[in-house]
Amino acid sequence: MFTAAALQSDSKPGQYAELAEQARGLLHGERDRIANAANFAALVYNALPGLNWAGFYFFDGSELVVGPFQGKPACVRIALDKGVCGAAASTRQTQVVADVYAFPGHIACDAASRSEIVVPLVAGGKLLGVFDVDSPTPARFDEDDRAGMENLAAIFLQSLRAE
Ligand code: SME
Repeated sequence: MFTAAALQSDSKPGQYAELAEQARGLLHGERDRIANAANFAALVYNALPGLNWAGFYFFDGSELVVGPFQGKPACVRIALDKGVCGAAASTRQTQVVADVYAFPGHIACDAASRSEIVVPLVAGGKLLGVFDVDSPTPARFDEDDRAGMENLAAIFLQSLRAE
């Protein structure tokens, strides 16, 4: 049975390296997308401080549909031209938003959210969805988070195609 240990490192890059190791262990040997997305969201949500939502939206061929997550109930469907998640999906670029209320078209699923990072999930050139993390703290996410979250997202994608 996998047990998540509290992160020890004092630095963000160090914490993300530890979290990446835990994610690899947690997802190892399983390829089911829902199972791995559920455990991955729970791992991230519980390991990192200052979050109020962490989870997935999967692309159904026309829009984003909510997947496994931790946090309050969320908007079910998001069009690709809407919100931070839509921006990440349509540009295929990670979105780091310091103040969600200043982001045009931001969708407030939880009014407490103040900052957000959304990483696109692209596999084999195809959009699979996005991994979205919200915080009630303004400017909670920086370039270290971008690098760390992108690496974590790559570990999730890798788990789906591992033998
Ligand atoms: N704020 C997001 C919507 C999803 S939730 O916050 C969980 C957005 O603007 O895309």
